[in-house]
Amino acid sequence: MPFISDSSLICPLDQTELHRENGSLRCALGHCFDIAKQGHINLLPVQDKKSRDPGDSREMVDARRFFLQSGCYAPLAQRLAEITDNAIQGQSRLDVLDAGCGDGYYLNEITARLEQSNRELCVTGLDISKWAARACASRYKQFTAIVASNRKIPLQENSQDLVLCLFGFPVYAEFQRVLRPGGLLIQVDPGPDHLIELRREIYAEVKKHEAPSSEEAQQKLGPLVFQQALQFQSAPLNADQRRQLLLMTPHFHRASPTARQRLEQKDGLSVSVDATIRIFRKSP
Ligand SMILES: C[S@@+](CC[C@H](N)C(=O)[O-])C[C@H]1O[C@@H](n2cnc3c(N)ncnc32)[C@H](O)[C@@H]1O
Ligand SMILES: [Zn+2]
Repeated sequence: MPFISDSSLICPLDQTELHRENGSLRCALGHCFDIAKQGHINLLPVQDKKSRDPGDSREMVDARRFFLQSGCYAPLAQRLAEITDNAIQGQSRLDVLDAGCGDGYYLNEITARLEQSNRELCVTGLDISKWAARACASRYKQFTAIVASNRKIPLQENSQDLVLCLFGFPVYAEFQRVLRPGGLLIQVDPGPDHLIELRREIYAEVKKHEAPSSEEAQQKLGPLVFQQALQFQSAPLNADQRRQLLLMTPHFHRASPTARQRLEQKDGLSVSVDATIRIFRKSP
């Protein structure tokens, strides 16, 4: 079994190692974190929560899960899997963190590809939303799914070979801490035309997304070693997919009832997917 589960988790309260013991994780100082029946572990201390139910809501997570499962973003998942496989060479064991993993769809596609080369994989899916970590744990038992924040990642320093941050919230200082020297950050952000057809239905004036800047990542982590724009047009979306797509984006809360209704009736709408894929390598 190439997936293994001895990840480098640390106690969020005192940063000492965590060990599995009778359905929970314990640190040397006696803090105990239960493994939920769905398999995820809550490592987000109450004092680090900025709201009662941080991150994506249950509805957003469910919508994204169904939308991604319907295959609309499959070309992006496949490209990411290829790029990651090419970028990682010659390592027989890999520690992988998805920082903001959602329901784990991309993490599964990417690690399934890495697994084909018979590598031993130790995979952690982290999300601040308990709904996301729960969805990830229920579906992908081969991962360690945790509720935590990118602001304070409960993993040992220099423990990861690969960090993924896909449409997420990068905290480069933390990615720098948990990556081994030479380790890679694969980051995906919306490109200028991402979902432009959806945004046209919602906003009177549609601004192009700004191209993401690489400055901060390069300063805090290391050089940009790869950049590619991936653009494709989705198949026509059915009514469920249009509803799910709107619900899983931040545009949902900004859409007026009229715009939501217009989208419901927009049979055959197809959307542009425009993603900027970048890889940064941690300097030694
Ligand atoms: C746009 S979704 C992307 C999810 C997944 N990467 C994907 O592409 O399907 C952003 C995710 O980041 C999570 N998130 C937001 N703030 C976070 C933080 N500070 N630390 C970790 N995850 C966070 C949200 O709960 C949500 O699941
Ligand atoms: Zn502790």
